[in-house]
Amino acid sequence: MCGIIGLFVGCELALACPKQQILNAVSTEDTRPELADESYSSPFRSWYERSSVRSTPRRLIADEDEGKQYFSPELVPVAGHPLVKALPAQVQDHILIQHLYRYLDFTMKLEHLVVNRTVLAIAYNTTGVDVPAQMRLDAHKIYCDEAYHGLFSADLMEQAVRRTGVQPLLPNQPYFLRRLHEIQSQLEPGLRPLAEMLFVIVSETLISATLSQLPDEESLVPAVRQVVQDHAMDEGRHHTYFALFLRHLYSQLSQTQRRAAGLLVPQLIHAFLNPDCSAVQSELMTYGLTRDAAVQVTEETFTPGVVTQFAVDTSRQTVRHFAAVGARDIPEVDEEFLRHGL
Ligand SMILES: [Fe+2]
Ligand SMILES: [Fe+2]
Repeated sequence: MCGIIGLFVGCELALACPKQQILNAVSTEDTRPELADESYSSPFRSWYERSSVRSTPRRLIADEDEGKQYFSPELVPVAGHPLVKALPAQVQDHILIQHLYRYLDFTMKLEHLVVNRTVLAIAYNTTGVDVPAQMRLDAHKIYCDEAYHGLFSADLMEQAVRRTGVQPLLPNQPYFLRRLHEIQSQLEPGLRPLAEMLFVIVSETLISATLSQLPDEESLVPAVRQVVQDHAMDEGRHHTYFALFLRHLYSQLSQTQRRAAGLLVPQLIHAFLNPDCSAVQSELMTYGLTRDAAVQVTEETFTPGVVTQFAVDTSRQTVRHFAAVGARDIPEVDEEFLRHGL
């Protein structure tokens, strides 16, 4: 965004160009451990043939999908709450449609506003992390993938709105961005870009776990499942890439920076995975539930135990990647992971 930053005056997402800050945060503050091995086996060798942007058709909702569901009820936990089940059938359909909208909106904003900022910085070698040239070229491919994920999400949302007539009820700012900004605001400025980079690593290594959950059901609108599958296929490659990027990053951080980074990771995992209770409550109130009833639904559905277990199950691989680079060798960091149930 550097050269065109003037176009973004007033945009809170462009408060500062991330690149120089990243460079500063990962600079040589004290002794740097040895650099990561320069050998890199690209997960994108067949990208031109296999990426969804290059190889899959546009996913369309068809006339014969009338009456099918827009999301799996098993993946919309509040749909199973007795107070919600007591609502009219049409409302229950709307809850699934709104869940799809939230998922698509989340995807678009995560890809465009967070992931692709870091990917761009890798492509232009401005993160301050030395990576092989092939890895920088692959960042351009991820950039295309994520932009396409944003497009097919926007496209599917537009089709769903047109087919169902149900208007999206979405927060102005996606909750993961709000939480990321809250975490960043508590850090010294030099560490904020590192937090964003870690957030991207976390989200890219979690996402393939969360995308594998949509079951193969006849009752589901096929375009929804196809879009999720297209996305999952690409994210498998991204997962491998970001696990490798993490190795490069960690091998170039000082001990002080490793400690700061490690302490952030559990918070970042929760920032990404914890449910957006206030958005769900606002939606439930539009169906006639009182505020107390809406709060009761989210509190009884998303108990601390359920939320923690979900984070543990979904982040297992991410946590392993951080352990593999030695993040948990620092006792304080290990304690922080344990304190968050990870
Ligand atoms: Fe994506
Ligand atoms: Fe991705």
